[in-house]
Amino acid sequence: MWWVVLVHQDLMTFISPVGPWTILPMKGVLKMKLDNYSGAGFSSKSKYMFGKVTVQIKLVEGDSAGTVTAFYMSSEGPYHNEFDFEFLGNTTGEPYLVQTNVYVNGVGNREQRLKLWFDPTKDFHSYSLLWNQRQVVFLVDETPVRVHSNLEHKGIPYPKDQAMGVYSSIWNADDWATQGGRVKTDWSHAPFIASYRGFEINGCECPDAWAALDNMRRCSGGWWDQPTLSELSLHQSHQLLWVRANHMVYDYYSDAARFLATPVECQHHHH
Ligand SMILES: *[C@@H]1O[C@H](CO)[C@@H](O)[C@H](O)[C@H]1NC(C)=O
Repeated sequence: MWWVVLVHQDLMTFISPVGPWTILPMKGVLKMKLDNYSGAGFSSKSKYMFGKVTVQIKLVEGDSAGTVTAFYMSSEGPYHNEFDFEFLGNTTGEPYLVQTNVYVNGVGNREQRLKLWFDPTKDFHSYSLLWNQRQVVFLVDETPVRVHSNLEHKGIPYPKDQAMGVYSSIWNADDWATQGGRVKTDWSHAPFIASYRGFEINGCECPDAWAALDNMRRCSGGWWDQPTLSELSLHQSHQLLWVRANHMVYDYYSDAARFLATPVECQHHHH
């Protein structure tokens, strides 16, 4: 059965080519359900360039092993840019992991993973992406957990020329998500339900008909480009250091086994 629910004027459900993706409507709360027939997802109707997108999510309670709930922004095409939050489920009582990633011109491989300082299945918490010409900041309850800075002056491409949609989905990824894929989804615990509320998209809307260059010009100089947002505040830098010291469990920056050389953008960061 199809449920098409308008939960926010800027959001619409998206449709899986393989089956009916289910979205359960609830008062002010959007519930996305994964069972052994289908997952679920939604996307924004418009694309945006720069701004801040926030959603509050309450992740799957109890046994969520094998499931991944994602919240991300992405452009389209083989050279797309993408900023990802992926919430990797776990067995009952074991912590979720939050994996973040950044794709630039179609290339990702920039994973970081952290354990949260709260149980994300007990309450709604806010997850945000702030994007401007200087930096992409991933925030959890307004605490920065990752910054991807513009290092174009070092010859490193930065995602700032493609409008992005806002997406979320829940799916089965038990081949890799939980404890490296060792723990499989226990379908006897389905349906797995992630709840959403408080969607806020505050960015520069880009009609499909506009060319990328026009968007870049039109979307320059908005509130997101004010100097105070070109880098973290001192307080935020301290928060990020705290997150990295106490909650980060994996960082592609320091994965010597995976990369022969330190990824080029990491050589220029000073953490
Ligand atoms: C699940 O729990 C185990 C044991 O605490 C932990 O090692 C792992 O990082 C957790 N998260 C995932 C996604 O496997």
